[in-house]
Amino acid sequence: MESQVYVNDIARHEGQEVLLRGWLYGKRSSGKLHFIQLRDGTGIVQCVVSKKDVSEAAFEAAERAPQEAAIEVRGVVAKDPRSPLGFEVHVKDFRLHQGQPGYPIQPKEHGVGFLQEQRHLWLRSSRQRAILGVRHTLIKAIRDYFDERGFTLVDSPILTPAACEGTSTLFEVPYFDLGKAYLTQSGQLYGEAAAMAVGKAYVFGPTFRAEKSKTRRHLTEFWMVEPEVAWLDLAGNMDLAEDFLVEIVGSVLAKHEKDLTGVLERDLTALRKVKKPFPRITYTEAVEAIRKAGHPVEWGADFGGDEETVLARQFDRPVMVHRYPASLKAFYFKRDPQDSKLALGADVLAPEGYGEIVGGGQREDDYDTLLRSIDEHKLPREAFAWYLELRKFGSVPHSGFGLGVERTLAWICGLHHVRETIAFPRMMERLTP
Ligand code: 4AD
Ligand code: MG
Repeated sequence: MESQVYVNDIARHEGQEVLLRGWLYGKRSSGKLHFIQLRDGTGIVQCVVSKKDVSEAAFEAAERAPQEAAIEVRGVVAKDPRSPLGFEVHVKDFRLHQGQPGYPIQPKEHGVGFLQEQRHLWLRSSRQRAILGVRHTLIKAIRDYFDERGFTLVDSPILTPAACEGTSTLFEVPYFDLGKAYLTQSGQLYGEAAAMAVGKAYVFGPTFRAEKSKTRRHLTEFWMVEPEVAWLDLAGNMDLAEDFLVEIVGSVLAKHEKDLTGVLERDLTALRKVKKPFPRITYTEAVEAIRKAGHPVEWGADFGGDEETVLARQFDRPVMVHRYPASLKAFYFKRDPQDSKLALGADVLAPEGYGEIVGGGQREDDYDTLLRSIDEHKLPREAFAWYLELRKFGSVPHSGFGLGVERTLAWICGLHHVRETIAFPRMMERLTP
């Protein structure tokens, strides 16, 4: 196929005749003129089809071409100070490649249920296109951060023999003669094994929670990045999470200011404040702060979305809450040697009501203590035999955390719900498209 010019590259072709390929985003006609908005995935450009400049067949094709038809346009790139792009195309030839009338998404307000049903087409809208782009950059920034700091990417399995984050949110899968497998809730346990091999590891992949919550923060399938570091304690882990967040938010801002402010109408004031140091408070201090704000909460209770929002509102940047009651946390947390009721864990809560985006902490590295915890959590010893063995052969203090990509992206983009942060979201009530 003849090579085409992309809209985001059009400035380099001023005055030249080029071939553009894409889809018909919009059209306005007035007798002898069609103004066609061509969208090619990199941008949108106005193409002016004038009856006097094209063949009859081409003019008729432009007339007929419906919304989202696949089209090919040949024309001359001209400066146009009125267009947001700065250029338009004076068309010499127009081809309707394929298309039929009746595109379901019209330029009017649609309900979100309808749009979700049309997700395979909804992705073509400017807003969804912008979110896909920001997500891509966020994921690249995450990988660059760890790659540039000596971490090794280790892929953990998706089919696992046991729970990592509590037994109530497991998806079961029949597994041949071995009985049941479960979709992974977190790659952490495997990340710990990897950290003992490479020192600094990170796991990055899809994770699954059979979460019976229909909130704006929950998906049943989401992507999580999980660094895990040997010889790192809780304080070091918080330093890492803080540095990491500052860097990845900075990278996204540097590249996507236009998408964020222009397309997504995100106010960047709060994001620009994502600088070190983040406030660090204990769970106990957090309970007091939430109570002071007039919201009742008992010591020992987990924070829900409301508590997190009330707390986060008191700070102008992400806040780290550490040393939660151990009873709220998974089996693998190390207890605080100063107070064994507490777990050496820390969560990061995003500002503006986006809630917990990072959870992690220091792992139990003593064999007997970990075995007791596995029993207390009524987890099957056999499935954790290999994990326990890491505490026999060269056990060291180690820590790590998990950052949820979708919640982080919802916060960065200022989206109401995580369902728009991933191309094809999976939620309790949605498995299609
Ligand atoms: O706090 P969580 O459950 O921690 C873990 O899974 C640890 N094993 C991580 C580790 O230490 N390596 O989950 C971590 C993050 C949350 O802070 C949140 O951002 C995201 O994963 N997350 C979800 N995102 C969307 N939908 C859900 N249902 C989520 N559950 C957790
Ligand atoms: Mg958590």
